[in-house]
Amino acid sequence: MSLYHKYGGITFWNEVLNCFYNKALQSKKIAHFLTPENFYHIQAMLISQLEISLGELGRYSMKGLMQIHMHLEITSSQYNEWISLYKDALIENYVLYEDIEKIIKIFQVIKQYIVYNNY
Ligand code: HEM
Repeated sequence: MSLYHKYGGITFWNEVLNCFYNKALQSKKIAHFLTPENFYHIQAMLISQLEISLGELGRYSMKGLMQIHMHLEITSSQYNEWISLYKDALIENYVLYEDIEKIIKIFQVIKQYIVYNNY
């Protein structure tokens, strides 16, 4: 069974995304990326983040992800903060440890396409 269905589908994962988004809005390191002008992009990004984390990585072009994020100059530390808050949201919603590990591993793989420089 897919992770999507294992936890009850869209209602559950919406809750995870909301939880993550509220945390990100309060983070000194990354909140400035989440501007009101960017709202629709961020919404679209959260959906793609969810799809990728649930195993739909193949639907996305890594070159595309690189091009989208390049001008944002996202640092390794900002990316790590993003992933750490996502992990917190998964924990708070009782996702099993073994599933969290799987999800975080996928995000470690795509880090190189989103982070601008390893500083
Ligand atoms: C975790 C993996 C990530 C994935 C899969 C992802 C994916 C995406 C996608 C697909 C878009 C385009 C949305 C649209 O269609 O409009 C986007 C936009 C954006 N992403 Fe990400 N993203 C990730 C991580 C991050 C991180 C870590 C940050 C900042 C710390 C970030 C900041 C942004 C911003 C600000 C935009 C809006 C576009 C812009 O301002 O040019 N993303 N992302």
